[in-house]
Order: sequence, then structure tokens, then C-alpha cells
Amino acid sequence: KHCFSKSGDGFLYCEDVKVQDVMEAVERRPFYLYSKRQITKNVEAYKEALVGLDSVIGYAIKANNNLKILEHLRGLGCGAVLVSGNELRLALRAGFDPTKCIFNGNGKLLEDLVLAAQEGVFVNVDSEFDLDNIIKAARIAGKKVNVLLRINPDVDPQVHPYVATGNKNSKFGIRNEKLQWFLDSVKAHPDELKLVGAHCHLGSTITKVDIFRDAAVLMVNYIDIIRDQGFEVNYLNIGGGLGIDYYHTGAVLPTPRDLINTVRELVLSRNLKLIIEPGRSLIANTCCFVNRVTGVKTNGTKNFIVIDGSMAELIRPSLYGAYQHIELTSPPPSGVEISTFDVVGPVCESADFLGKDRELPTPDQGAGLVVHDAGAYCMSMASTYNLKMRPPEYWVEEDGSIKKIRHAETFQDHLRFFEGL
Ligand code: LLP
Repeated sequence: KHCFSKSGDGFLYCEDVKVQDVMEAVERRPFYLYSKRQITKNVEAYKEALVGLDSVIGYAIKANNNLKILEHLRGLGCGAVLVSGNELRLALRAGFDPTKCIFNGNGKLLEDLVLAAQEGVFVNVDSEFDLDNIIKAARIAGKKVNVLLRINPDVDPQVHPYVATGNKNSKFGIRNEKLQWFLDSVKAHPDELKLVGAHCHLGSTITKVDIFRDAAVLMVNYIDIIRDQGFEVNYLNIGGGLGIDYYHTGAVLPTPRDLINTVRELVLSRNLKLIIEPGRSLIANTCCFVNRVTGVKTNGTKNFIVIDGSMAELIRPSLYGAYQHIELTSPPPSGVEISTFDVVGPVCESADFLGKDRELPTPDQGAGLVVHDAGAYCMSMASTYNLKMRPPEYWVEEDGSIKKIRHAETFQDHLRFFEGL
């Protein structure tokens, strides 16, 4: 049973807690609501899939950077994937083991690389200038840096172009025709660099695991080439990107086990340690974005449900045309018709929608409405556009209690940026 589901009484529950009851109890709306137990279950699914392999689960912090969630993931044994100095600082604050952290990115700053070198996290090499900066950082920190080469394998992940990263014209990683140059450069800097592995990341929302296998075949081939030149590389990092069932149609999608099993033999055949970098598949389905209906209106041929949440708090539908399932938290009064609605927020532009053409019963004012699968890339991409301050976050604990895990951002927080100016 999914952590958010409708019970026989027609109400939506998070575990054993009525979402409606949480709405009554919390200080401000809209808000994000998580199931802590579901987070644990998602990590366990990866751990079980990885049995028999030497591995690191590097959680991609960009998907959700709530400190309480990070501490929980760290407690479950995860490492972390970082893309900025602040993500690195937050990972350290959450207690992640630096040797299970990987610093990624096509535009890493020298000062952040120095911190990474000091802390001993793995660093992915993304370009010629990036390698240059890593060497400089190693010298400044007085530490040798463990590096992986981020190879752009030119595999089409068959996803929205904004979230495809491993095709040859993307800004990420290095192309194979330059591999030799990188190997020679690493070899020329034995005091600064230790090459420990190769990395690739294909894209996000991938729903065909064959794509990971195709990439892994290419990647172990690169590892063979690298080893032939005398490097002792032990890590294969196949990135993140596993998709989830956003449509709630009950379609059978690949699981972490399916993903790992498509690469298991290859990894074992070369005696490699496997790093994976899941974000979405660990955290997306653990959360709903909970709103209240402000009103219902009709213009021309369109019906609208206007809610208090918006593109400011949850931008994926506006930015990628992403589908996230929407439903009401309470059963409709009997006899209410189902109509087709766009679910929109109060923000002053027409890109402000959470869902288009959704079949829903006409809700009363004040009714609860949730956007599902909001754990990944929703709060972490939220803005304060229209001065809609970032919402608070709560989770339902294993014992059924509701706990706040992030304060609501306030108007005072905004004024603070101008203090003393
Ligand atoms: N590793 C690297 C190097 C990445 O760039 C990413 C995501 C991940 C791991 C984690 O991928 P995941 O397992 O979460 O798919 N904002 C977009 C998604 C952008 C993904 C960026 N990279 C969205 O809302 O769909």
C-alpha cells in the first residue's frame, strides 16, 4: 500500500493519519507533508537491490535538501551527491561520511573545490578547466583529490530535453575523443590527483532500464581502457535518473532491483564498486503538496480550480509540462458532478498551473487538494515569486505523530535582506 492512499471512508491518508486532520492542525497552508516510513522503505529497496555488490547510494541532495530528511537518509547509510559548495556544507552538517560523497557539476567553483579537497570527498572531473581547478584546489588544500572522470556516453535517455544530460551535445561531462588527454593530464599530476573511477549520468525520469545497461556496457569499456594504462580505478558511478509512477495508472515501472540487475554482472565482471546517485526515486513518492481550494471559476470553455499553492512552491508542471497526480483530500458531497478543470494558483501569469484538464468533482471552498509525488524537485525548486513565501514541511513519524521538519518562510525573512541598507 502506498503511503498516501484513500481509505474506505473516501478520505486521503498519509500512513494512518487523515490529511484533513493535518490541515486543521498546521499553522500555515499550503504545506508539504511526507511519510518518514516511506523514505525508509525507498532506501531499503535500493539496499536490498544492491546485496552482493560493493556499493554506495549517493543521494542527490538537489532533489530535496531538507536537513531533517538528509539526517534520516544519512542514518540509513546513504552517501550524498553534491552540486554546490552549500550542498557540500549541508551534507557535512547532516553528518554524511565524506568518503561517501561525490561532488558533481559542470561549473564547480575553485573555492568550493578547495572545501571538497579539504574534506576528502570524491570529485567528478567535467572539463579541461574543471580539471585545472581541481589541481589548483588540491594544491591550496595540500591534499590529494580522489577524482572520477565524468564521461558523456552519448546515450539517449528518452526523456524531456531539459532533464537529458548524457547525450553528446549536452553541457555535461567529457566526450570519449578527449579521454586520452584527460588520462595524460591526470598522470602528469600524481601529487594532486588520484583517479579512482568513471562516472556517467544519463538524465532523469528514465523508465527503461535497458538505457542504463547500454551506458554501463560503454562505461566498463572505458574502465578497461583506463586500467590498461596502469590506473587502478575501482569505482563505476552510473548516476541517478530512475523514473517513478507519476501518472498513478498502476503501470509497472522498473524498480531499483530491475535497475541494479541490468548492470550487476558487468560490475562484478570487472570487480568494481558501484556508485548510484538516485534522487527522485528515493524521495518523490514520499510527499504530497497540500493545498486548500480558494474558489472555482469558469472562463470561456475552461473550468478552473484556484488553490492557495502555485508555481512558486511547485514549478515542475509549468517548467517541464510535468504531470503530477492531483486529488481532493475528502470525499465529495453526494451528487456532485465530475468536470474537467485546470488546477491553478494565484500567481500573476498563465504559466501558473499545477495540473491541466483534470477530471475532478467540483470542490467546495476550503476543500483540501493534494499534488502527489512532490518529494523531489518541488520544495528544492520553490521560489518566493509574488512574495509567496516558501511553505513549511511536516512528516508523519513511524508512531503516527505529525512533526514539523521545516519552518514556514515569513515576510520578516524577506525584510531581513534589506536590514541596515
Ligand atoms: N546525478 C546527477 C549528476 C544529476 O545531475 C542528477 C539529477 C541526479 C544524479 C539525480 O537524478 P534523479 O535520480 O533524481 O533523476 N528538476 C528536474 C530534474 C533535474 C535532474 C537533475 N539531475 C525535475 O524536476 O524533473
